[in-house]
Order: sequence, then C-alpha cells, then structure tokens
Amino acid sequence: MSDNQSSSKAILLVGGKGTRLSPLTNQSPKPMLKVAGKPVTEHQIVKAQEAGIREIVLATSYMAEVFEPYFGNGSKFGISIKYAVEEVPLGTGGAIANAAQMLELQTGESVVVFNGDVLSAHDLSQQISQHKATNADVTLYLTEVEDARAYGCVPLDNEGRVLEFLEKMDNPIANTINAGCYIFSSRAISEIPRDSVVSVERDTFPLLLQKEFPMYGYKDGSYWIDMGTPQSFLKASRDLILNPSLSAATDSVVAESLIEMGALIDSSANIGGGSMISAGARIGARATVMGSMVMNDVEIGEGSTVIDCYIAPGLTVPSSTQIVGEILG
Ligand code: GTP
Repeated sequence: MSDNQSSSKAILLVGGKGTRLSPLTNQSPKPMLKVAGKPVTEHQIVKAQEAGIREIVLATSYMAEVFEPYFGNGSKFGISIKYAVEEVPLGTGGAIANAAQMLELQTGESVVVFNGDVLSAHDLSQQISQHKATNADVTLYLTEVEDARAYGCVPLDNEGRVLEFLEKMDNPIANTINAGCYIFSSRAISEIPRDSVVSVERDTFPLLLQKEFPMYGYKDGSYWIDMGTPQSFLKASRDLILNPSLSAATDSVVAESLIEMGALIDSSANIGGGSMISAGARIGARATVMGSMVMNDVEIGEGSTVIDCYIAPGLTVPSSTQIVGEILG
C-alpha cells in the first residue's frame, strides 16, 4: 500500500432537486435544511473533519448560490472548502467526476464521497482504514433495513466483496443497502466519463463491477437515516435532538428540545420529545408541542396540541387545535 493512499479529501453531493422533500425544498436545497439546528451539510462537514478530512468540494447545482455564503472557505471548520458548480445537473456520478478535478488526486489517493442527504453515526475512520487494508477501489458504507425496495441493494460475498449493485428493485435479494457514503480510489474515479450525465448507482457501480475493480462493503449498524421525505427529515431532527451524541454539530439541547434565540414560549407551554422551535416562533399559553419542527415565525395558539408535525415558516395553528403527524407546508 502506497503512502499516498490517504483519504484526507472528500466530495459532498449537494446538487439534487430534492423533489420528494417538496415543499420543504422549494426555498432551500435539501442539504441546507436544518436538522437539530444545523444544515445537513454542516453535520457531514463536522463528521468528515473529525475523521481527518482536510479538503472538501461541495458539488452543487440546484440553488448553488446558497452554500458559499454559509460555509465560506471552510476555515471556521478547520478545513478547506471549494465549490464545483454544475450549470446543468450531472447526476451523482457526473458530479463526482466534475468535483474530483478540483481535488487534484494523485495516483493511489482516495476520496470520500457523501450523499448530501444522509446522516449517520458510522465510524468513518474505520471505513477508511478498511478501504486501505483491502486495497479496494471502492468501499461502500452499508446498513441493514427491513424493507430494501427503495434503496440500492448490495449483496456481499464471505470476504465482504460486493457481488452486485441492484438499484431500487421490487424483490431485493438482500437487506444490506447502500447507505450513501463511499470511498473511491483515483483509479475508480477516472473511469467516470467527464462532462456527461452519469448516475453513480445505475452506471458507475455496475461498470466497475463488470470490470472487476475490487469493491467492498463496510457494514456498520450504527444510527443511519436518509432524509428523502418530509417524514424522515422530521424524524432525523427529532432523533438528533433526543440523542445529541449522534452528531457533534447539534446545537445545545435543553429538556429534549432545541429552542432558537428569538422564539417566544409562554411559561405554561409544554415543549419536548425532540422538538425544534425556530427563531420568531410564538407558542401560546398551555400549548403542547412534542416531537415537532416549528419553523420561523409560526404561531401556535393557546391550548393547542402539536405532536410529530412539521409546521412551515409563517403558518398559524389556531387556538385549541389538535394536530398529530402532519406536514404543514
Ligand atoms: P429526489 O429528487 O427527491 O430524489 O432527491 P435528490 O435530488 O436529492 O436525489 P437523490 O436523493 O437521488 O440524490 C442523492 C444525493 O445526490 C443528494 O444529496 C443530492 O443532492 C445529490 N445529487 C443528486 N443529483 C445530483 C446532481 O445532478 N448533481 C449533484 N451535484 N448532486 C446531485
């Protein structure tokens, strides 16, 4: 193994439209939506930094202009951040090939790639170590789910080598799925065509397998969530607030809630269960808010009960209303 087979560089795929998360993604790209008080991308940057990553390229397209004003050159996170903007979305594979050009990878060097919409507590340093130890070209972080139909199903052999990559199928043959964090060798990245629309899941992984590039799975059963839908996004925020140790980027939590400066909460209101109350929200007397995201400038009237709901910015929940499990956009 050569010395420069290091993995101190990463690409974050943050350019998708996030249509399944509409209407939340009408005004913000999915990776910039706040989970437990911080954008999803910030949770990932902090995780990457902790695992020794020092250089990140954000692969942007949809609403590309909102990332740089927030993350800047990365100095506040102790790393370097650059931006690869796709005028036309290149797909997940095309985005990797495009962003990799900014990282000037040397032969034998590896790069970590994150899907911009997953949060996990998996051990990234371990994944990197395994990648080096097996001399793999690709190491896929895998997790197990009960129903694999909505994901890329990835069966392994006894040595942990990937046998197939089967993107979203009706009858998955395994419940180990692609959990959206990969390590690629520079050799594997150079197989992705440049300036073309390419899907890493549908085009690149099957091609690399066909060419017999060594691809391994890194299985880890730690906390993992894919924030594809409003319900899973709400769950992610609730989970991180209830378990702040899941991400070092989570804002400070008090009494199982995260309350931003500038929220006005009546002293008789009952807030908890992993709720997030954003700046400018007003919660009336005797109201109960559990496991919910109450966004900026929302008003919740006196005596109302809001459980497991997302309430979009500026909405009003009238007094004495009961709502459970709703996404109000
Ligand atoms: P849906 O439209 O709801 O499927 O969401 P999405 O657009 O985010 O697509 P998907 O969940 O398949 O994307 C996985 C990750 O790749 C997300 O973090 C996206 O932001 C990112 N992504 C998807 N397509 C592109 C692309 O064309 N360019 C870049 N840079 N990133 C992409």
